[in-house]
Amino acid sequence: MRVGLAFNRKPQTLSPQARHDHYAEWDDADTIKAVAGAIATRHSVIEIEADEAIAETLKRARPDIVFNIAEGINSPSRESQVPIICEMLRIPYTGSDGFTLAACLNKARAKEIMSYHHIPTPPFEVIEHAQQRVNGLRFPVIIKPLWEGSSMGIRNDALIFERSELPSRLERLLKEYRQPVLVESYLSGREFTVALLGNGEDVRVLPIVEINFGELPAGAHPIYSYEAKWIWDTPERPLRIFACPAGLDDTLRARIEELCIRAFRALGCRDWCRVDVRLDAEGSPHVIELNPLPGILPDPDENSCFPKAARAAGMSYHELILEVLSSACARMGLP
Ligand SMILES: Nc1ncnc2c1ncn2[C@@H]1O[C@H](COP(=O)(O)OP(=O)(O)OP(=O)(O)O)[C@@H](O)[C@H]1O
Ligand SMILES: [Mg+2]
Repeated sequence: MRVGLAFNRKPQTLSPQARHDHYAEWDDADTIKAVAGAIATRHSVIEIEADEAIAETLKRARPDIVFNIAEGINSPSRESQVPIICEMLRIPYTGSDGFTLAACLNKARAKEIMSYHHIPTPPFEVIEHAQQRVNGLRFPVIIKPLWEGSSMGIRNDALIFERSELPSRLERLLKEYRQPVLVESYLSGREFTVALLGNGEDVRVLPIVEINFGELPAGAHPIYSYEAKWIWDTPERPLRIFACPAGLDDTLRARIEELCIRAFRALGCRDWCRVDVRLDAEGSPHVIELNPLPGILPDPDENSCFPKAARAAGMSYHELILEVLSSACARMGLP
């Protein structure tokens, strides 16, 4: 097959106007190269930059399928850009469709859909302007920009214990990210992230990853914050923050797996997705959010959950990428 790899590449340098984390979710050259390399073991690869010219690029290249890892540009629905353009051009693509990607990127929408399906997710309110008050939530709460990922805007101080502190913190976050803020009850139990592969009755849960907060610097809150993801964890001094497979008894593991499959289906995910889960103080699992375009850093020394879970299941990076591709082909009846 001729496979088009659609991506947004991190720029080498940040423009002076850009926020420091503006491109945190975009892929670096190593990831793009690794995914292209994996696909190239079986197919020919056409690299497709998901920029403003992508429709023209796709029309010219006419790949048999697009392998989509593009995070998109500018908008709260940015992750939908590649899927929607592929649909317009009738080019098959891997992964979830534009609706699912946009719904999962907007954490409140994803939580509304989960609530309808009785999938446990922490109570929340959405704040759109600094004068708005949070009423019904139990403290502590965690605050996050509504439509970001990669822990953008979720710094160590995103956890708020005192109601009186909230207004000034909300004001700061609203200003910095220019988007509504999700205020969510904090779950104090263990945290897991769960990689799923496949479709329909064949959705497969890979070995569960636990986030080990004991590895964070002394005094840090037990959350997988921006600092934990991108500052405290470096290739030179990696935090041993993941345990995979997580130490779980069969009952809890089965409960978490079932919860994640239900969330995957409720949001209409396809081919792959990583679901973040946390236990409440009583030990019951809740879904925090879904990542239908999961991070896939190739270097085992860089902490990346999906490839880590795949390795624990005995799959190499290449096999993981090829499995996503074959799930997509099977789903669409492509050879
Ligand atoms: N309600 C909550 N209770 C406890 N911890 C939370 C809650 N919401 C978020 N966190 C913590 O903050 C981290 C980041 O939150 P979340 O997964 O929503 O952000 P993200 O930026 O979308 O993450 P990703 O990198 O997976 O895209 C979580 O991994 C978890 O440690
Ligand atoms: Mg997350």
